[in-house]
Amino acid sequence: MQPEFTAIAHPNIAFIKYWGNRDDVLRLPLNGSISMNLSGMESTTTVQFGAELKQDSFELNGETQSGSSLQRVSQFLDHVRRLANSNQYARVSSSNNFPTGAGIASSASAFAALALAASKAAGLDLSQKDLSRLARLGSGSACRSIPDGFVEWLPGEDDASSYAVSIAPKDYWNLVDAVAVISQEHKPVGSSTGHKLAQTSPLNAQRVQDAPDRLKHCREALLGRDFARFAEVVELDSHYMHAVMRTSNPPLVYWEPATEVLLWQVWQWRKQGHAVCATVDAGPNVHVLALADELEWLRKALLELPGVKNVLVGAPADGARLAD
Ligand code: DP6
Repeated sequence: MQPEFTAIAHPNIAFIKYWGNRDDVLRLPLNGSISMNLSGMESTTTVQFGAELKQDSFELNGETQSGSSLQRVSQFLDHVRRLANSNQYARVSSSNNFPTGAGIASSASAFAALALAASKAAGLDLSQKDLSRLARLGSGSACRSIPDGFVEWLPGEDDASSYAVSIAPKDYWNLVDAVAVISQEHKPVGSSTGHKLAQTSPLNAQRVQDAPDRLKHCREALLGRDFARFAEVVELDSHYMHAVMRTSNPPLVYWEPATEVLLWQVWQWRKQGHAVCATVDAGPNVHVLALADELEWLRKALLELPGVKNVLVGAPADGARLAD
């Protein structure tokens, strides 16, 4: 057996969302996106290749995986084998310390950690850019969990030019993400299927066309630490993505009634002067982005709202790294 490598990566929350691909196989997105890595939540993944292994194997949170879950990992390992010019199978074991598949992007941290651990285990020493490109092939948003802190995914035009870069270090702005968990169930329609539906929405072309403006607005608000401007564009972008989802054919509705109540409540708090805003991914959970000094009351207030089962808190975090 070859030496094993273990990597850690965090999920990320997108302020400007990735939704829809120009190329589904290479995961070249229709638009750029901006996110922040989330501390506290993480995937830890160990990979070992071996000439004596007869097939790839994948264990997630202690359970042996088969079917589509194993297939996605194995297809990803094919990219690593191609880069390393290897034909050895691998043993992959991964764990997440947060709910999988419920609008907290577990695929992002999973494929970022897998990209780093598998490339090292295969003897490769990829640059951050090439690691981000590799992670993107596993899950689009995973390319954003490679660089540190606040990150922008440059959509690019081809495989070589589509990758993520850090636009500010983690300590640049004291934002937190308080994730109000409404459901821990696995989402009924995964993002990979959802991305394919984006182009069936009559609103999609407009959303994509305006994306550069929203990216600019978000980048400026972030770099200027201007919460009011930031909140405006983050909520607009989230609503825009869910409008596209809802008007797709067939329609995709990820929200639950409690999602709507929470969004309304966050909006009221902001009107009262609090630095809070909300964004929702492909699931019912509400990510409440806030300045860190709002966290104490916010966490308690969220837990008191109907349907909120738990609140997970993430602060800006580093990108993917090898475990000690
Ligand atoms: C709504 O990266 O999960 O969270 O490439 O098919 O794995 P795949 O999709 P994924 O899509 C993320 C969608 C989103 C928005 C975002 O994180 O930008």
